[in-house]
Amino acid sequence: MVAMTNSAAVLADAAAYAAAVEEASRAAAAYYATGESALDDEAYDRLARGIAAYEADHPDEVLADSPTGKVAGGAAVGDVPHTVPMLSLDNVFSAEQFGTWTASLERRIGRPVTAWSVEPKLDGLAVAARYRDGRFERLITRGDGQAGEDVSHAAAAVVGLPQRLSAPVTLEVRGEILMTNEQFEQGNAIRTEHGGAPFANPRNGAAGTLRAKDRAYRVETTFFAYGALPLPDSGALAQTLAELPHSEVLSYVAGLGVHTAAGTDVAPVLATTVEEVQARVDAIASLRAALPFGIDGIVIKADPAADQREAGSGTRAPRWAIAYKLPAVEKITRLLAVEWNVGRTGIIAPRAVLEPVEIDGSTVGYATLHNPADITRRDLRLGDQVMVYKAGDIIPRIEAPVVHLRTGEETPIAFPESCPQCGSDIDASEQRWRCVRGRSCRLVASVSYAAGRDQLDIEGLGTTRVVQLVEGGLVADFADLFTLERAQLLALDRMGETSTDNLLAAIGTARTRPLSRVFCALGVRGTGRSMSRRIARYFATMDRIVAADAETLQRVDGIGKEKAAAVVAELAELAPLIDKLVAAGVNMTEPGATPPPEPGTENEAGAADDGTNGAALPLTGMTVVVTGAMSGALEKLSRNQMNELIERAGGRASSSVSKRTSLLVAGEKAGSKRTKAEDLGVRVAEPEEFAELVGAFLGAGEES
Ligand code: IVH
Repeated sequence: MVAMTNSAAVLADAAAYAAAVEEASRAAAAYYATGESALDDEAYDRLARGIAAYEADHPDEVLADSPTGKVAGGAAVGDVPHTVPMLSLDNVFSAEQFGTWTASLERRIGRPVTAWSVEPKLDGLAVAARYRDGRFERLITRGDGQAGEDVSHAAAAVVGLPQRLSAPVTLEVRGEILMTNEQFEQGNAIRTEHGGAPFANPRNGAAGTLRAKDRAYRVETTFFAYGALPLPDSGALAQTLAELPHSEVLSYVAGLGVHTAAGTDVAPVLATTVEEVQARVDAIASLRAALPFGIDGIVIKADPAADQREAGSGTRAPRWAIAYKLPAVEKITRLLAVEWNVGRTGIIAPRAVLEPVEIDGSTVGYATLHNPADITRRDLRLGDQVMVYKAGDIIPRIEAPVVHLRTGEETPIAFPESCPQCGSDIDASEQRWRCVRGRSCRLVASVSYAAGRDQLDIEGLGTTRVVQLVEGGLVADFADLFTLERAQLLALDRMGETSTDNLLAAIGTARTRPLSRVFCALGVRGTGRSMSRRIARYFATMDRIVAADAETLQRVDGIGKEKAAAVVAELAELAPLIDKLVAAGVNMTEPGATPPPEPGTENEAGAADDGTNGAALPLTGMTVVVTGAMSGALEKLSRNQMNELIERAGGRASSSVSKRTSLLVAGEKAGSKRTKAEDLGVRVAEPEEFAELVGAFLGAGEES
């Protein structure tokens, strides 16, 4: 009855109209209650447009609970009045429409606009943060634009919204709260561990998180300021804010310690002509997929305060700003099948096979489905039309089935009854199902991972060799590699004297790798390269890691309550393997790391989590980024080895330059990172200069 087109749902009759009104009201209510509606923005808008079209044709059939004309679809929106309405933005979709818009704005104010601020349109929720005498006072959602909901309870978990400003001023900062891609993936991991439903997309995640009051776990979001205005007690600041160009208001806010988009790849820039604006719009559009957070367009604002004042605002949107929309990152496609894949640790994960669909420049054919309970909860069926979300480096995901597009032909999704990899039983006692054989189920994958370049780095041990070893019964876990005998290897197909000797030598070298790599080789869930380095540097020996309880583990930077508990549980499971590694003479210490004091000793509370446990190292407290080709003493180091070096020397390695970066090591052919560091005033060092700084740590972690 209801067919979708790109622009509006087509409602054929009164029954379809009534069903659509009900669905839209339910979605609006759910969104404003929990931030988790089954409809994404675009689908909601399409439905709302369909409803409006039907009502235009049938004015006497309009239902009382129709969302048409009601802000926030008529859902409850909160009761804290905004001092100045929080408006929306009008949209343009092309260079031509943008040109028309600027011309009409310039006609209205009677002169050309001399500067345009071109900014990312952050894909989150608008909020107002009030500060009094430099102290955080209140966080309010946009609500219906006139009044919003008080969500101050959530402010402490919002990155970029300080409790204290750097000056004792009274003002309201407005901006967007969103989940960065990393916060989204992390938030979903925590939620699913707690048996909750994963967030459909980062925006829903941010909305739900802001409103949630009694969660047993903490999920972070990020604030980006895009404006500021005075409050009744602002005093002289009111005049200043009224006269400053928009771009300077943003710098002022950033100077107070509030997070803005400055320092990101899509930082606001000023453009003087329509052509310059368009060039920046194109640049932002092409950077979109690589950004660590979601944007749904570009906002262009007349920068001079006088232009804004004279242009004024309509009831819905200001006349001095416009949103240049980018294509949606959500599309509807069909769910064709569900595959069940067994991961390295024996986890059995469902994956959706989709009718390929183009989303923001890439073709999406698969999407994650998290776990079986999630499939049941969403009542997904094979053949369903599903809303798929794909943005940045987020793994494509199914947000929800589009229920009103069901034809009745859809069929239930069958769950596996035994491990799809080895046929063993399934342990379904937790949300994530697991083969009862755990890691042994995917022995080839776990051994290959352990032997990989960033772990034990055993040259000559590719997957084919590992398969031979496993199939020949020579290896039942990666500790067995260390007790392989020459005759056993020689007996394998295509293993001559030379390759055997080379492999044995490589295994010998692997035995002396630093603890961080040995620990990483264990493949404990949630501990990749950099987390393994942090753990190894903090505890210095495997004994101490294994003996640590969840509370102690949380002293390592980046390990929260959930991860700590999961790591402790997994290490208990891995104890026999670790014992075998020790017995085989594998190194279990981290060079250069000092163990933390025993619990209960005097200095314990002051211990740092950088593995130095207090002693100052050349990079202590510094965040270091490496770019370009290394030279001199650093020439042969891979990026991973450079990061290891940075961390041995007490620093934190990062891959992107921001205002929090302390140092950029820039070799030859350093590109945009160098320019960005220079723009931000970040210190830049040549590889040779850096090698001098950390010389003492060069080679410390590498055995030979
Ligand atoms: S200025 C009075 N700047 O987009 C003008 N808004 O679709 C207020 N948004 O409600 C908005 N990024 O929540 C502005 N750089 C940006 C923005 C931005 C995202 C949101 C904002 C607004 C919505 C309109």
